[in-house]
Amino acid sequence: MHSLMMYMRTVFGECELKRALITGITGQDGSYLAELLLERGYEVHGIVRRVAIENPKHRLWRITHFLDRVCLHAASLESMPSVYRVMHTVEPHECYHLAAQSFVGYSFEDEFSTLSTNINGTHHVFAAVRDVVPECLVYFAGSSEMFGKAIEIPQTEKTTFYPRSTYGISKVAGFHLAKHYREAYGIRIWCGILFNHESPRRGFEFVTRKITSYAARIKAGLETKISLGNVDARRDWGHARDYVYAMKLMLQRDEPDDYVIATGKQHSVIEFVQVAFSYLGLNYKNHLNIDSQLLRPVDVDCLVGDFSKAKEELGWVPCVQFDELVKEMVDEDLRATLSQ
Ligand code: NAP
Ligand code: GDD
Repeated sequence: MHSLMMYMRTVFGECELKRALITGITGQDGSYLAELLLERGYEVHGIVRRVAIENPKHRLWRITHFLDRVCLHAASLESMPSVYRVMHTVEPHECYHLAAQSFVGYSFEDEFSTLSTNINGTHHVFAAVRDVVPECLVYFAGSSEMFGKAIEIPQTEKTTFYPRSTYGISKVAGFHLAKHYREAYGIRIWCGILFNHESPRRGFEFVTRKITSYAARIKAGLETKISLGNVDARRDWGHARDYVYAMKLMLQRDEPDDYVIATGKQHSVIEFVQVAFSYLGLNYKNHLNIDSQLLRPVDVDCLVGDFSKAKEELGWVPCVQFDELVKEMVDEDLRATLSQ
């Protein structure tokens, strides 16, 4: 694959084919974004951890279907030399920095590695762009978790941050680093403030996928109960495919900026459970166990975004509705469960 890309670079020249580098290509968003960029004719490169290359069946499951069309580079966010090496090798026109320790729950168990990976990792990526490819357009994956204990509803690009986890703090730090690199060095970095987005490729540690996978297993008679923590938490859930499209639109703008990407609609965890279970003809009350061990020391109770700026300036609107999202995830989990 690499030699093919080198050949294409020589034949078509540097300007004809756009090169994109995605950190976190093995994750939910990275996989959808890579598909989108391939469709648009990009030469797509991804940073993956060495363990992923050594264990492709478990680590590369989201990108198996297009592995032969992308070029993977082993690197770790924690290692500045490895990030610089990839930046030198690829010389991307666009860099989408998605890699992160992204599970808020885990950030309470290991605050130090979350802060270290997410803040230093982001700093390494921005510094490498500045020093190696300063013209490169950059996307930074900010998060609605930065609003935390939100001081207003709905949240906009102007809402003050009040993070409630080291994960949220790490994203606020990344956001300010992005602004600093824009102002001090003229690096063109767009910050997406993305609200929760899900899909059949969501990790099983997140509440939506946990619910849909358990619902499918309960339906198949493989489980009887699901244990959850704070079911009153409210989130603004959209579909990951819609949200990666917004990332692409941002980098088409002339000037870097910050954009809230959300649906503007809010649902509680218990509503998600109810929709998922009733779709399979199950009464969730017969299967739900509330486990206080699953509560976080502090939680984010209520997130809902105002995406007016993205609509006006990017022409972006979410396409997939809440019920459709839940059903797509349940369908996929039921199919996978029954085919095991
Ligand atoms: P995800 O599925 O958890 O993917 C995270 C990616 O980061 C994976 O590819 C992972 O690689 C990689 N990664 C983690 N630590 C790394 C390290 N030390 N070195 C290299 N790669 C590393 O997350 P996602 O849902 O796609 O989210 C993408 C980004 O958007 C993240 O920054 C997340 O914080 C942010 N975000 C997500 C949401 C959401 O609702 N999904 C909302 C707002 C913001 P492995 O596969 O090897 O673990
Ligand atoms: N994971 C999980 N597991 N969450 C649970 C459970 C459970 O068993 N029971 C209740 N919850 C509640 C959590 O306490 C939280 O309030 C809510 O469900 C959503 O949790 P997650 O799905 O883990 O997502 P998150 O909102 O904490 O974080 C996600 O969204 C952020 C954007 O707001 C992640 O994708 C982050 O990376 C992202 O930045």
